[in-house]
Amino acid sequence: MGFFDTEKGVDEYIKIAEGYDGTELIKILQEYLPKKSTVLELGMGPGKDLDILSKTFTVTGSDYSQVFLDRYKKENPESDLLKLDAATLDTERTFDCIYSNKVLHHLPREELKKSIQRQAKILNPNGIIFHSFWKGDEDENFDGMLFTRYQIDELKQIIGDSFDILEMKVYTEMEKEDSIYVVLSKSV
Ligand SMILES: C[S@@+](CC[C@H](N)C(=O)[O-])C[C@H]1O[C@@H](n2cnc3c(N)ncnc32)[C@H](O)[C@@H]1O
Repeated sequence: MGFFDTEKGVDEYIKIAEGYDGTELIKILQEYLPKKSTVLELGMGPGKDLDILSKTFTVTGSDYSQVFLDRYKKENPESDLLKLDAATLDTERTFDCIYSNKVLHHLPREELKKSIQRQAKILNPNGIIFHSFWKGDEDENFDGMLFTRYQIDELKQIIGDSFDILEMKVYTEMEKEDSIYVVLSKSV
């Protein structure tokens, strides 16, 4: 059982993440994505970003943790949620945008590559993807959880030919320049 599969792990994460959300990232996404577009969020966790996204877009939340999904559904019975592993994205549905905030670093590099390829398949024409990563040169394991860290050049290699890069920039979350966000459009 992983860290995010337990009530205790979820409570701990909520404490650690207090005061952080994707407001600034979502402002950037809004420059690229028309209002009311359909957005799938991967690894929604407590759902703070999903709430913000839902003010502009038609949102579907997802996570592989049933604990997070159950908690959000209890507070938001009308919400559209899917239990999805970001590595495989096993769904028949398609979306205008796929968004995640500090989720894909939990995948090993090879799985990230496969996830990006799979995302291209479940995106509508002219779709975009938006993801944030931790920036750095060393990976870490914490409580059985993988933290991969990337530099911009490595991310470019992993993304390959399936997407065109609209923006890929370093930003600050907890420590100076500790993060990277990417905005990519599906290559036609
Ligand atoms: C660091 S938290 C970020 C949560 C949320 N995006 C936020 O910004 O607060 C990572 C989230 O990704 C989820 N997660 C980790 N690995 C995943 C995977 N392979 N597929 C789907 N969700 C995953 C966890 O359950 C957790 O909700």
